[in-house]
Amino acid sequence: MLAISGLGDLRARIEAWRADGRRIAFVPTMGNLHAGHLALVERALVLGERVVVSVFVNPTQFAPGEDYESYPRTLEADRRRLETAGVDLLFAPEVRAIYPHAVQIDASYAVPSVGQGLEDAFRPGFFSGVITVVKRLFDLVAPDVAVFGEKDYQQLCVVRTMVRDLKLPIEIASVQTVREADGLALSSRNQYLSAREREIAPQLHGTLGEVAAAVAAGETAYPQIEQEATERLRVLGFEPDYVSLRSAETLRPLSTGARSGVVLGAARLGRARLIDNLIF
Ligand code: PAJ
Repeated sequence: MLAISGLGDLRARIEAWRADGRRIAFVPTMGNLHAGHLALVERALVLGERVVVSVFVNPTQFAPGEDYESYPRTLEADRRRLETAGVDLLFAPEVRAIYPHAVQIDASYAVPSVGQGLEDAFRPGFFSGVITVVKRLFDLVAPDVAVFGEKDYQQLCVVRTMVRDLKLPIEIASVQTVREADGLALSSRNQYLSAREREIAPQLHGTLGEVAAAVAAGETAYPQIEQEATERLRVLGFEPDYVSLRSAETLRPLSTGARSGVVLGAARLGRARLIDNLIF
């Protein structure tokens, strides 16, 4: 496996592969890799002939006061896991390579409407930062296909919309959320949980499951279902940001009588902020 941090080296390698007609699959990450990330890598190995994984903790998607400084950086362990998995190239740039002039968002493509509300209501500017870095990474890696997790469902919708709006020649593939045996979605931020919080944490998934089951069974009082789920989380010890029933395609509020959709939830638990969703 090649490990590259410089743009020139990356460009040369990508150009050589493209000249050989290799299909390039790309998995962008912020590192501290777990089995969820590795499921994306597995998919990329199937979809592409050459697999590139980026590890870059993107400063523009963290708000002041969020965990940019303390976000777990474990590059050497990540490198070993990716090498074992069969990845061809690890791209781990410095901040100044991605942001040579200033660490700021690129406003040339505005966050599409799927990126408004939900996460955006609690992390203003988050999707501007994600779009900025994903666009830049797409420019550099020029992949044929890029793989994202359903765990960050709104992010997946934003990236799909951006690729469509900008007519980028990139296919977006998605992978189901990888969970612990008790249902907790794997996340780098789970390590912020105390032992007690870790016991409570799977209830986010459990609560979303109850919401999805109620709707699939025909209940239609969506605002009430959302509110009861939020209250349940609060009683369990979470500080919920939202529980919301949406159309899985548009992320618009679920229309009455729909039997399929997605329920998205986010809640703080101690030092961690957990997000999860269930497509039903
Ligand atoms: P990060 O949180 O490292 O996640 C990288 C990718 O792994 C995302 O597509 C995310 O949805 C996926 N992922 C994380 N946990 C998962 C799980 N339990 N199961 C399945 N997939 C999972 O998301 C980001 O980084 C950044 O916003 C990024 C897109 C890299 C831009 O900076």
